[in-house]
Amino acid sequence: MSKPLTGKVALVTGGSRGLGAATVRLLAEQGADVAFTYVSSENQAQTVVDEVRGKGTKAVAFKSDQADMSRAPALIDDVVAHFGGLDILVNNAAISVGQGRTVDDPDADTAALDRMHATNYLGVIAVIRAASRVLRAGGRIITVSSGLGSRVGTPGVADYSATKSGVERYTMGVARDLGPRDITANVVEAGLMESGMQPPNPETLKALVSSLSLQRMGHPEEIAAAIVFLASPAASYVTGAVLDAHGGYNA
Ligand SMILES: NC(=O)c1ccc[n+]([C@@H]2O[C@H](COP(=O)([O-])OP(=O)(O)OC[C@H]3O[C@@H](n4cnc5c(N)ncnc54)[C@H](OP(=O)(O)O)[C@@H]3O)[C@@H](O)[C@H]2O)c1
Repeated sequence: MSKPLTGKVALVTGGSRGLGAATVRLLAEQGADVAFTYVSSENQAQTVVDEVRGKGTKAVAFKSDQADMSRAPALIDDVVAHFGGLDILVNNAAISVGQGRTVDDPDADTAALDRMHATNYLGVIAVIRAASRVLRAGGRIITVSSGLGSRVGTPGVADYSATKSGVERYTMGVARDLGPRDITANVVEAGLMESGMQPPNPETLKALVSSLSLQRMGHPEEIAAAIVFLASPAASYVTGAVLDAHGGYNA
């Protein structure tokens, strides 16, 4: 029996670990050929590729630093050269630095914060711009944000929140721009996950978990399921939407 994403080509940024790897696996299970990026975890990227290929689906990993905007067109060219087109873009790659440090911190690592803005905001825009040239009709753009993209619930996250809020608004603009080509653009707001990116301080983590309706962290697979729904034919009339998958942070 044909799977819902058979014949589709997906690109997931940051697919070597965490939510990105879970999304790569689920897209492949649904029948898509999947390309993904990483920046430093070559071995982990190869493990994900091997796992997906082992289940009979096509997968390829590209090392591509999202903080370097000039890389984006070549990345998209590489995906098209490898798989012959592009249908689904999942903007997942991001970093989180400086969490817990307030904006008046005299010891702030501004170079690291600048790299976060480049990776999480400018880099996402560059990939969307490049992908939008080649996405086929019926295409999907899904941007992974955070509950902190719409609500700053704790001190010490101003820069990270700003990057996520920025890509959320950009994705809404993309939905307006590409809708006439039958391409949807949506946001998934993830929540605290058992993966690489976590608040450094256990007390902050405890406070954040207790602010959630579900009172627990999420599994990457639970957020991947929301992403893959938006990538699926079932979501053909959903665009410009924000799907909250953060355990009830805003409830
Ligand atoms: N974890 C959470 O609690 C949480 C909560 C809300 C939202 N989110 C969002 O969910 C998404 C995934 O988070 P995660 O926790 O799964 O992250 P993660 O485990 O830290 O993985 C990040 C992924 O992004 C890649 N990456 C980082 N910088 C990159 C760059 N400059 N160029 C290309 N790839 C880069 C990493 O590649 P390498 O392996 O090569 O470093 C890795 O594949 C992010 O958008 C994040 O903002 C996470």
